[in-house]
Amino acid sequence: MARSSQEIIALFDQYVIPNYTRYPVALVRGDGPFIWDAEGKRYIDFFPGWGCNLFGHCPKPVVEALKSQVERLLHVPNSWYMEEQGLWAQALSERSFGGKAFFCNSGAEANEAAIKLVRLHAPKGKYKIITFLNSFHGRTMGAVSATGQEKYHHGLEPILPGFTYCEYGNLSAVESAIDDETAAIMLEPIQGEGGVNMPPAGFLEGLRKLCDERGLLLIFDEVQTGCGRTGEWFAYQHFGVTPDVMTLAKTICSGVAAGAMLVKQEYAADLKKGMHASTFGGNPIAASAGIATIKMVEEEGYLARAKEVEKRVKERMNKWKDELDIVAEVRGVGAMIGLELKIEGACFVQECMEHGLLINCTHGKVIRLLPAVNTPFEVFDEGLDILEAALKKGA
Ligand SMILES: Cc1ncc(COP(=O)(O)O)c(C=O)c1O
Repeated sequence: MARSSQEIIALFDQYVIPNYTRYPVALVRGDGPFIWDAEGKRYIDFFPGWGCNLFGHCPKPVVEALKSQVERLLHVPNSWYMEEQGLWAQALSERSFGGKAFFCNSGAEANEAAIKLVRLHAPKGKYKIITFLNSFHGRTMGAVSATGQEKYHHGLEPILPGFTYCEYGNLSAVESAIDDETAAIMLEPIQGEGGVNMPPAGFLEGLRKLCDERGLLLIFDEVQTGCGRTGEWFAYQHFGVTPDVMTLAKTICSGVAAGAMLVKQEYAADLKKGMHASTFGGNPIAASAGIATIKMVEEEGYLARAKEVEKRVKERMNKWKDELDIVAEVRGVGAMIGLELKIEGACFVQECMEHGLLINCTHGKVIRLLPAVNTPFEVFDEGLDILEAALKKGA
């Protein structure tokens, strides 16, 4: 018999480490932009899978590709070749900068691979990586050390040495921070968890130039922005600035756990044989979901659709900005939208949830939406009505 939310919560209380703040609801089933809890309540999900579920819940073409894959091959280790991984790497490479891929299982792991690549690539004595305040790169020791937010370091000290945090957008601060030991600059081209922060004009171009002049690798963490989320395959394509290394996860498999690092051809051999590995990385299940995801974006025209989502959602939000005192700014690209408030936003998440809408609040005051790109516009309207009512009420 199906358990109630309360019964499932009781299981967690007894057996699951309480390292997450969880809403007191158990989710049991999803379909496109909707998800249902154990009591049968339906929610519109504007933050499906914490930004992983690019097409919402259980998109049919991805589910079909998975079904067909699990009947043939679940897992083979990377001591063998497998067609699915090769085709997935080709698909990602052809849509980005023609590099080579290393596959893993999460965003943090992709960034760990990038940090190791930097150390393996750099001449002796160079190992430092410049990263940015309010960045987020994951929770493993290397990725969290790269993350420029002290709150994530508390209690973990000493963190991995070699990271210098600069103000995001401040090119001259980066220039001054480069020293003889600097090997790379790593950043999210659009900061996600830090509040959906857009790079100021010329910033990414300036970083590219600095890297070229000083022999540094430029790494873009596109874990949140990648694979069509912003209306281009990768966010860097909006700015015409190509990185040397790019890390991916979240959207690349529509919700199946996976991560990837793409590296320009000339640096690929720096990840030397035997120096890095992942048992599950690039497994046939992830690869088949990855290929199906790319096909779906292409066949359904979802890059253009993400741009339309941005237009429609921003139009509505900009009206709120004019009408409501508490709204400070509307930011974002494609289906990655931030609504900065002048007050704390957690109460609006709670209020919306009670009224059947799931959203996120990051960095205290930024309501963040990472909706499915194929959410029907009438569902967008319905969800935005709920959010508008919450904002008007002041929650
Ligand atoms: C930009 C960015 N990098 C890395 C990560 C970490 O990814 P994961 O949670 O899959 O390790 C995240 C997660 O939110 C992210 O947004």
